[in-house]
Amino acid sequence: MATQKVVVLLLVTLVAGVFGALEHTGTSVKLNDVYYFVSPFSQGQPWGRGGVEWKSHSKAPGLIPVTVVAQPCPEDSLHSLFTNWTSRDDVWQPGFLETVLLAGFDTTKSKGADAATRRSYWADTLSTVLPLQSAGIPSGPYFLDTSTGQVYQAYRLYEDFAGAFTQSLLQGPDGRFQTLSAQVPASASVTMGVPSRLYFTPSKRKPLAGVRIGVKDIFALAGVKQSNGNRAWYGLYPPASATGTAMRNLIAAGAVIVGLQKTSQFANGELATADWVDYHAPFNPRGDGYQDGAASSAGAGASVASYPWLDLALGSDTGGSVRGPAAVEGLFGNRPSHGLVGLDHVMPLSPALDTPGFLARDPRVWDAACAALYLDNYTSFAGDEGSATPKYPKTLYVLDLATTTTTTATKKDDDDPATLMRKKFASDLALFLNTSATTLDLEREWATSGPAEGKGQNISQLLHLTYAAFITKDQTKLLRDPFYKDYAAAHDGRRPFVDPAPLVRWAWADSQPDSVRDDALANKTLFMNWFNDKILPPASPHDPLACSSGFLLHADSTGFFSSRNRYLDPPAPPLGFSNGEISVFAETPDSVFPLGQVPVFSSVTNHTEFLPVTIDVMAAKGCDGLIARLARDLVAAGILTAPKVGPGLDGEGAILLRRDVRY
Ligand SMILES: *[C@@H]1O[C@H](CO)[C@@H](O)[C@H](O)[C@H]1NC(C)=O
Ligand SMILES: *[C@@H]1O[C@H](CO)[C@@H](O)[C@H](O)[C@H]1NC(C)=O
Ligand SMILES: *[C@@H]1O[C@H](CO)[C@@H](O)[C@H](O)[C@H]1NC(C)=O
Ligand SMILES: *[C@@H]1O[C@H](CO)[C@@H](O)[C@H](O)[C@H]1NC(C)=O
Ligand SMILES: *[C@@H]1O[C@H](CO)[C@@H](O)[C@H](O)[C@H]1NC(C)=O
Ligand SMILES: *[C@@H]1O[C@H](CO)[C@@H](O)[C@H](O)[C@H]1NC(C)=O
Repeated sequence: MATQKVVVLLLVTLVAGVFGALEHTGTSVKLNDVYYFVSPFSQGQPWGRGGVEWKSHSKAPGLIPVTVVAQPCPEDSLHSLFTNWTSRDDVWQPGFLETVLLAGFDTTKSKGADAATRRSYWADTLSTVLPLQSAGIPSGPYFLDTSTGQVYQAYRLYEDFAGAFTQSLLQGPDGRFQTLSAQVPASASVTMGVPSRLYFTPSKRKPLAGVRIGVKDIFALAGVKQSNGNRAWYGLYPPASATGTAMRNLIAAGAVIVGLQKTSQFANGELATADWVDYHAPFNPRGDGYQDGAASSAGAGASVASYPWLDLALGSDTGGSVRGPAAVEGLFGNRPSHGLVGLDHVMPLSPALDTPGFLARDPRVWDAACAALYLDNYTSFAGDEGSATPKYPKTLYVLDLATTTTTTATKKDDDDPATLMRKKFASDLALFLNTSATTLDLEREWATSGPAEGKGQNISQLLHLTYAAFITKDQTKLLRDPFYKDYAAAHDGRRPFVDPAPLVRWAWADSQPDSVRDDALANKTLFMNWFNDKILPPASPHDPLACSSGFLLHADSTGFFSSRNRYLDPPAPPLGFSNGEISVFAETPDSVFPLGQVPVFSSVTNHTEFLPVTIDVMAAKGCDGLIARLARDLVAAGILTAPKVGPGLDGEGAILLRRDVRY
């Protein structure tokens, strides 16, 4: 008797548990050869009366594609509305015209099921037209569940062929994230999903509404597991319980976070293929498709250079991790002034140097995204027509603009086509600013106007160890030590796998006295105060429309081209000083502008391919918006051209190995 009772109770519990556990995570379907994901989150019931027998050619059980037109529209204008949608949105297609739910559609003469009227709005497609009865469902493509009349948003699915993402995400209505569970045909890459652009209307409160953003896999998002580029880390820690300030700012502005993107391990510099042991480095689409995409925001660069369906990516720059990928993939990219937004819930390399920055093709989107991320700390000139026209500075400094563009050259070349392109930009910019460029010799300036404490040594000596000291001492303390401890506790004293590059850096930290971190801070402060006072101070007298006393151009963050299939030297600690580190220590903004491309012979394709040429533009600390505004004005003036996706910045041709791709 007693035993029987227990069995019955157990059965009831089990059955209840099983019923309660069934959860809809979305559905994958195909419409006219295009892959879609049906969101599991209902948007409501556009048709309230019921009684409709949904006619469908659909073979997906219970689902039919529908188009919602949320604003009343004369029927003879619908064709041009749909034409407009086709050019604005990659998700909607005429296949969604099977049923049209039209705001203001007049059905006074019929009732219930008879209200369904057949019309043709597109070629020989015959649509069933119904009046839209529920306000608040935005226009666009949906999938309607015929058993409930609820509609679900349509996401278009894309293959991540550049290997840029670590995971695909779906943002829930409660602000939490879950995996976007879909897979399209692909070779060892994840499937990404993007919602229709038609659902979103940017506003003052939501300036980034519908803007699709990829995020470096070092930013915590509530409900999401993070890797920091390390598999052991991903396995060890649970999903994040909170979303950090930076991510919250973007989400509040309406951004659509589509997924997490690959980073070289723990955001340390790594070379593609050679150093990337835990994950395979993303593919840079430029040139022959086998150039290193640079690090550490590698997924960010590869994705923005490859995918027209992605608007921008958020990376981080501690010593060049945004600017490097932007440079070798020919994109706009910014290292912002230090400290513009809190980096809580973000993996640290060195908090004193860490900054979050974007990679983008369109400078307007870039500017708007910066304004949304940095909020009041962004000196914005992004205002609408007529507001805040900047007073550009008359000082234009030029540091060394020479670099190498070929994969074989080892020393800087003044006659290199890329160097000549940068020099031309410097003179175009001078003309635009109604000024002339001044060549700057930083070491000579330091020798003459440098602080007394710095006498007797040059900048290169002063800052030789500084970067290495900051990042290795900080990361061992803030990340490695607790990670090793947690891993050992969970795995019987074992140590996790770590890639060679971070290991070498961490070992260097262990070989140095703790005082090296204090020395680094003292040296950084000495340099920063001098640079921000003597070289690139704020505009004087103070004028918010001027902001910076000058611009400074250099070429040291423009990356170098390196084929992925070369055998390389083992990694070493990041010693030495370069112009790309001026902003790192001085806390000033430093952005990459794409200038064009140069022909380079590829031994992979046995053919001439084109590689991007970029330049770095710096301004005084806090004048970030001035640089983005300059980019926009230079594009408007025809001095710069916004880059496109593909093997070249001009968008011509197909990405090699992807000749079958239709966008
Ligand atoms: C589509 O319509 C919108 C809103 O009316 C308009 O701003 C946009 O310029 C149109 N786009 C195209 C490509 O026609
Ligand atoms: C602006 O920057 C300061 C200093 O880094 C920071 O404390 C503050 O939170 C930032 N403001 C916003 C709105 O993020
Ligand atoms: C440069 O001078 C021209 C002609 O005087 C003027 O129209 C333009 O606004 C000036 N540009 C800047 C950036 O000062
Ligand atoms: C800095 O000084 C050292 C030692 O005198 C010298 O070897 C080096 O070339 C100098 N570097 C620069 C950039 O002047
Ligand atoms: C700081 O500067 C001193 C003096 O030039 C130099 O000897 C030392 O190596 C530097 N240390 C760091 C960590 O930057
Ligand atoms: C490379 O191209 C050249 C010129 O088209 C051709 O002569 C040569 O055989 C090719 N080399 C290889 C290895 O295919």
